[in-house]
Amino acid sequence: MALLSNGVVSSVAHPGAIAFDRINMMFVTYDEIFDERGESYHRAMELCPDARRREFRLAVDSLALKNGAVLCDIPAGGGYLIDYLPPTLDIWLIAIDPSEVFARQWHGVRIESHLASLQDLPIADAACDAVVSIAGLHHIDDRPSVLREIRRILRPDGRLCILEVAAGSPVDAFLNGFVDAHSSMGHRGRFVDDSFRADLQTAGFRIECDELCRYTWDFSSEDDMAEFVRLLFGLDKAGRDDVLAGISRLLGYECGGDGCRMNWALQALIAT
Ligand SMILES: C[S@@+](CC[C@H](N)C(=O)[O-])C[C@H]1O[C@@H](n2cnc3c(N)ncnc32)[C@H](O)[C@@H]1O
Repeated sequence: MALLSNGVVSSVAHPGAIAFDRINMMFVTYDEIFDERGESYHRAMELCPDARRREFRLAVDSLALKNGAVLCDIPAGGGYLIDYLPPTLDIWLIAIDPSEVFARQWHGVRIESHLASLQDLPIADAACDAVVSIAGLHHIDDRPSVLREIRRILRPDGRLCILEVAAGSPVDAFLNGFVDAHSSMGHRGRFVDDSFRADLQTAGFRIECDELCRYTWDFSSEDDMAEFVRLLFGLDKAGRDDVLAGISRLLGYECGGDGCRMNWALQALIAT
């Protein structure tokens, strides 16, 4: 255990799933990828902090949070969810992520932060009213053990909201196809399919809602959209025009007087 300069408690992160780094010709873990790519991901989120607001609001709304609720975000990235909690409610947010790059960003009141492995959450049994996980489970090798940990920290009547890429969807083709081809780290995600749902049930969850949610990521200009996507996904082998062509071909976007909207969709799995 160690304390980072911003007061975040660090448990030693376990190595996660591995991938192949085609530039250095070596295998790397996803923990290492996020240590390297995390800075770039966070720069994207700083460049366009509100681009994903529909996604964060979707997650928060699905949890029907009550005043005084304890909400855990796993993995939390840079703790972006805090900006979308209902301002009228007093919510205690616990942010957990295995990457120190993200843990350095966490600041604020009403937020407790842990740099920790997702397979070994430093949270007491039944301590949380709700857990949210946005685009964070597709690089995990041992998904059953993470889901068991989530079940352990949730109260028996607690609610879990997973927003994750659906297998076979256009976002799957964008990430495992276009991003994989244009990032030297590649991209191989294990997205929501029947084995994902079976893991949830085996961990003790009952799936109450299982729905593909389509919405947009919103930008003030085409340039911002291209730069956001390039940084967020670490597309070091693509220029602006390649990125726009990839988005246009696989996802679709439209620009008007009020900015640009890029199509995005995640599977919402709400479980109790
Ligand atoms: C796509 S980001 C999502 C972060 C945040 N939930 C969001 O929506 O912005 C994936 C997160 O998984 C974390 N992570 C790092 N190593 C991991 C691993 N081996 N397995 C799973 N997740 C990992 C990263 O640190 C990162 O925060």
